[in-house]
Amino acid sequence: MSDELKHTSRRAFLKGGAAVMAGSVAGAATAQSADPLITEVQDWASFTGDGVDATPYGLPIEHEADVIRRNVPWLTADPISSINFTPIHALDGTITPQGCAFERHHSGAIELRKDDYRLMINGLVDRPLVFSYEDLERFPRENRVHFCECAANTGMEWAGAQLNGVQFTHGMIHNMEYSGVPLRALLEEAGLDTAGDLADKWVYVEGADASSNGRSIPMEKALDDCLVAFKANGEALRKEHGYPVRLVVPGWEGNLWVKWLRRIEVMDGPVESREETSKYTDVLADGVARKWTWVMDAKSVITSPSPQSPIKHGNGALVISGLAWSGHGRITRVDVSKDGGMTWETARLGSTQGDSKALTRFYLDTEWNGEDWLLQARAMDETGYVQPTKDQLREVRGENSIYHNNCIQTWHLKSNGEAENVEVS
Ligand code: MTE
Ligand code: CO
Repeated sequence: MSDELKHTSRRAFLKGGAAVMAGSVAGAATAQSADPLITEVQDWASFTGDGVDATPYGLPIEHEADVIRRNVPWLTADPISSINFTPIHALDGTITPQGCAFERHHSGAIELRKDDYRLMINGLVDRPLVFSYEDLERFPRENRVHFCECAANTGMEWAGAQLNGVQFTHGMIHNMEYSGVPLRALLEEAGLDTAGDLADKWVYVEGADASSNGRSIPMEKALDDCLVAFKANGEALRKEHGYPVRLVVPGWEGNLWVKWLRRIEVMDGPVESREETSKYTDVLADGVARKWTWVMDAKSVITSPSPQSPIKHGNGALVISGLAWSGHGRITRVDVSKDGGMTWETARLGSTQGDSKALTRFYLDTEWNGEDWLLQARAMDETGYVQPTKDQLREVRGENSIYHNNCIQTWHLKSNGEAENVEVS
């Protein structure tokens, strides 16, 4: 191709592209129409706004009062041992604000002052130690972004499409930037020989709340990337997320992320506590429970359009948006289907780098003209793993499972722009 031709075709392409965009954003008014929001001087431009002393610590503007945690009444009959869900249908980007991040408490959120905080490391260490909050602050710190997904996320969907909203089907997840001390550093301070043979060693981690939520973690993971965290998204952990200190166990089920962390015991084997035997295990098709499913496999979901986020803008340009994550590392690709999984288009990842074991935002910039769609997203991670369909999961797990459901989700998008939770097979 000659240089001249190249230039012409590039110019033509750009012009063509612009025309398509302008034509497809159907709701945008033309400059000629008299829109009082453009032609008239408004109150907010005529008077001063609030002074800087109005909100020493800010909350979202009242018009966003709907973007809140919600629960499912029949699922959370007891507010002490309960769960609420992140409004992921209304958020964008990847970071979850603490104020609306899902909570899961087995015995309620406790109030623990920093001054009263103690963390003990005991068991098979040379020097059992007790750390105060200030002690922890004197170790070298790291910042890392990670998702925390409850193993029960999507758990109500095993037997059929049940909860009509992505907040309820997928909202037991949040993604924050944690600041804290690597657990490895604290274990070394207590005299653990991390160069020695630790193959059969475990840590048992406990919270200060009445449930204690005790869990066993293999030493390899404890020394790999676990973080003893005291800040989330730059500020102190909120009470409900474990103030003043919680454990971050990247990529592994939320139950291991012990809040109000009070004790870490180095042991010869797992404790086999309530939370790792009668709970958080997967019942297979033959009724046998599978032990230790720690890693949250790759998963994705379209957050908009979705039942709580219908299309309101009419035909033309449509941004399909969603979240993908994997406990095994980075998300490498997300595909979107409009026909229930028969054909797929590759979505655009919101950030090219993408954090490991963290939420990744994806977008598909497309057009919708009132068609009936069966919308799905399918995630792939850096190990080559592809998110399975519900049928593929059921072949292995039957329908008696609750936990670790990472199946492909389907929304039926209707011609009126509303979406509904459905199943396709
Ligand atoms: N840690 C303590 N001490 N007590 C608890 O009840 N719940 C666990 C885990 N850590 C729990 C706990 C469960 S099941 C999950 S999914 C996560 O915390 C939820 O963390 P979040 O409440 O910050 O969302
Ligand atoms: Co949980």
